[in-house]
Amino acid sequence: MAKIICVANRKGGVGKTTLATNLAVALNTKGKSILIDADEQQSAFKWANQREDIECITVHSDLLEKLEKLDKEYEYILIDVAGRDSTIFREALLVSDTLIVPTQPSLLDLEVLDYMQKKVKTAKQTNENLKAYVLINRAAVRTTELKDAIEFIAEFDQFKLLKTVLFERKQFRDAIVESKSVTEMNASKAKDELNQLIIELL
Ligand SMILES: Nc1ncnc2c1ncn2[C@@H]1O[C@H](COP(=O)(O)OP(=O)(O)OP(=O)(O)O)[C@@H](O)[C@H]1O
Ligand SMILES: [Mg+2]
Repeated sequence: MAKIICVANRKGGVGKTTLATNLAVALNTKGKSILIDADEQQSAFKWANQREDIECITVHSDLLEKLEKLDKEYEYILIDVAGRDSTIFREALLVSDTLIVPTQPSLLDLEVLDYMQKKVKTAKQTNENLKAYVLINRAAVRTTELKDAIEFIAEFDQFKLLKTVLFERKQFRDAIVESKSVTEMNASKAKDELNQLIIELL
């Protein structure tokens, strides 16, 4: 049975695709993996298409049916879900082992966690083993925002905050453009952060 990891947030532009593409490369080294791009923008699909090693498909409907077929063939299934609420998002939560919600540490972004927590609670009625994590992404260095965000997220009992924080770093933007993971680029803090995240998650 495949381990299903879903990267989702109702909020757009928080780093879902950035996380999904970087995780796809990491998972691929651990076992047979497939990346599912469930967002009509197809950013992850385009990124993967420039590479030989990452299997990626787009899915816009009937996710559960498709996952059932993939389940036997793959060890890891990673899903990048569009920002807005959707059937796909609800379906993904019903079968995922792990949900990762990347968020920026600003209050406007964090407020969406309330909505996301409700979705997790509903999903857990059927998928009781769902593990839900929040990942702080695009944190600014030398501000108090991060500390405030950590305190804010601690109030959500359905979420575990990942200790690893991804800071705002150009390398994350460059990696996507070059169809790479930051771990495949020159030594950088982004690479260190991602490696730390992989150790924490996998
Ligand atoms: N840690 C980071 N440091 C710098 N730039 C980042 C970081 N994370 C993401 N970005 C940039 O922020 C933008 C939005 O990221 P991304 O596309 O991954 O978000 P998303 O949640 O998938 O967006 P959408 O909701 O549109 O699918 C991109 O330009 C990406 O390169
Ligand atoms: Mg995206």
